[in-house]
Amino acid sequence: MTANYNIDSLLDEIVTLPSLPSSVTRITQLVNAPDSSLSDVARAIQADPALAIKTLRLVNSAYYGLSHKVTSVDHAVALLGMKVIKNLAFTATVFDTFHKGTGALLRHSVSCGVAMRILIAGHRELHDMDQDEAFVFGLLHDVGKIILEQFLPKEVESAHLLSRANEIPLFEAERSIIGVDHAELGSRLAQQWGLSKELVGAIAGHHNLAACPNEAARGLAATTAIADYICNMSGIGSALKSTGYIADEMWDAAGFAVSDYPKLLDEFFGSLDSVDELIEMSS
Ligand SMILES: [Fe+2]
Ligand SMILES: [Fe+2]
Repeated sequence: MTANYNIDSLLDEIVTLPSLPSSVTRITQLVNAPDSSLSDVARAIQADPALAIKTLRLVNSAYYGLSHKVTSVDHAVALLGMKVIKNLAFTATVFDTFHKGTGALLRHSVSCGVAMRILIAGHRELHDMDQDEAFVFGLLHDVGKIILEQFLPKEVESAHLLSRANEIPLFEAERSIIGVDHAELGSRLAQQWGLSKELVGAIAGHHNLAACPNEAARGLAATTAIADYICNMSGIGSALKSTGYIADEMWDAAGFAVSDYPKLLDEFFGSLDSVDELIEMSS
């Protein structure tokens, strides 16, 4: 089964991208506005009760490692600050989007978020990004797969079969079966959600650095490719192990060397508990 879409025809004819909840858009606007206060942000969260509950669950997870329980949104915002809260709102939104996908993809994406956090922590000088933002980005990098699965399940199945049969990466198989791959589609979603140009470009280029529009996106896309690799090699893949290779240019562009791999892997294994916990609370 093959189709031959380009990204625009796919979005015109088949796919409706999930929209960012208005509460999250509002929170993002507030966080970016210089004169907004912590209580403005808290109010915007409280206006969306489902988001408020999820925010509190995440705040109280071991991932944030707080020593006492936080029971109010006001307290959460005061304690963690606006930027962290914005990332929490995005995390909750991405989790909602994932419920349309398979459990394996959720596990892969959360693991990639955790791996991104580790990678960015080791390279603060390279990226203008904090660890929570890195987590959200890792969580989001394969979001295009969920959307493809939702709207073109048969074609996605054919792409998996082709990837396995020919031992080619899944994104290549998606391109030959559908005409568009999950990276391109995910990048459109990131654009629609108002994420930065760097993040939009890095999603587009996480399997192919040539698709990155600038150097900052290139570094971030390469870092994502390494996070992806760490997860795939640990058996938490969305791709076959045999096709989960990583090119030398990715290591270079991310500012790491292949020899860093064992240490990174060790740190990743040390964080697997938080993966399980985050998955549990995503529902
Ligand atoms: Fe991917
Ligand atoms: Fe991935």
